[in-house]
Amino acid sequence: MKPTISRREALATLGASLASLAGAPRAAAPSAPSPTATLPAPMEEVPYVQTPPHAVRRMLQLAEVSARDTVWDLGSGDGRIVIASARDFGARSTGYEIDPALIAESRRLAQAARVAGRAQFLERDLFTLSFAAPSVVTMYLLPEFNLKLRPLLLAQMRPGARVVSHEWDMGDWQADETLTLPSPDKPYGTARERRIFLWWIPATVAGRWRVQLPKAAAHAAQGLTLDLSQTLQMVTAGAAQGRVAWSLLRGTELALAWVAADGRSRWLLTGQVAGDTWRGEVQALGAWANTTEARAAPFVAQRVG
Ligand SMILES: C[S@@+](CC[C@H](N)C(=O)[O-])C[C@H]1O[C@@H](n2cnc3c(N)ncnc32)[C@H](O)[C@@H]1O
Repeated sequence: MKPTISRREALATLGASLASLAGAPRAAAPSAPSPTATLPAPMEEVPYVQTPPHAVRRMLQLAEVSARDTVWDLGSGDGRIVIASARDFGARSTGYEIDPALIAESRRLAQAARVAGRAQFLERDLFTLSFAAPSVVTMYLLPEFNLKLRPLLLAQMRPGARVVSHEWDMGDWQADETLTLPSPDKPYGTARERRIFLWWIPATVAGRWRVQLPKAAAHAAQGLTLDLSQTLQMVTAGAAQGRVAWSLLRGTELALAWVAADGRSRWLLTGQVAGDTWRGEVQALGAWANTTEARAAPFVAQRVG
């Protein structure tokens, strides 16, 4: 999988934190959003409502689905998300659905789309599933279903896997990205738009990290020790030498901006976390978090506690 936070993207996000780099007090961590405001009355069953094709496409694009992915749609209806992910994105996909008539219809449509080899449909209650296998889970359910699924997805999906939900959020698990699509033909509700939410399953990065800085950055500190704490994908970080001005975790990709103890030397560290190792590149930043001519150099960090 390609890195999820490109240097350009990290820098763009970091741009929003210029005040912090320039010495202003760090902004408070974003407060948890209240669950979606317009919850329908609790229902025992999720009704069958289809995601329109343009929204299906945007869901799969948002999750960056590719031929390397295993996609599961939970409550797959007529199979449109499963079929599109196999046909248009090359994924291996499975739809889980409790309605046998919809399973039969999905299989017929998958045959017609010539993706029956990569798109399968199983008659199962989605709450009987274990989620270790899929790299992408999609859903168009109801708020209480999302909230019931949330701990299962967080505990069982691999770090770096993605979850996409049409319409409903996950309570105070803030989405990594949200799209709002105009939808004049939406058959219910008053808002003529649809929302799509994307979450990356966060790696566990909390703990104390010892960073071996490359030669290019070694003059900024003899060694760098970082203390990270984490709530879901929200990370706050402190440094034994200098301070951390900004941090971002997306799946297994961790990026942070470190300001050395002299207050003038600033560095962007971006890399992949695998278990107790964080490996990536470090690059000098200018006074306003702009890139400099300095080349990125590799670094490695180990979690030591
Ligand atoms: C809103 S529809 C979404 C259909 C499709 N995913 C789409 O986006 O077009 C929800 C689907 O979930 C199915 N469903 C409801 N409860 C389920 C459960 N416990 N297990 C599996 N499927 C379920 C319903 O039969 C329905 O087809």
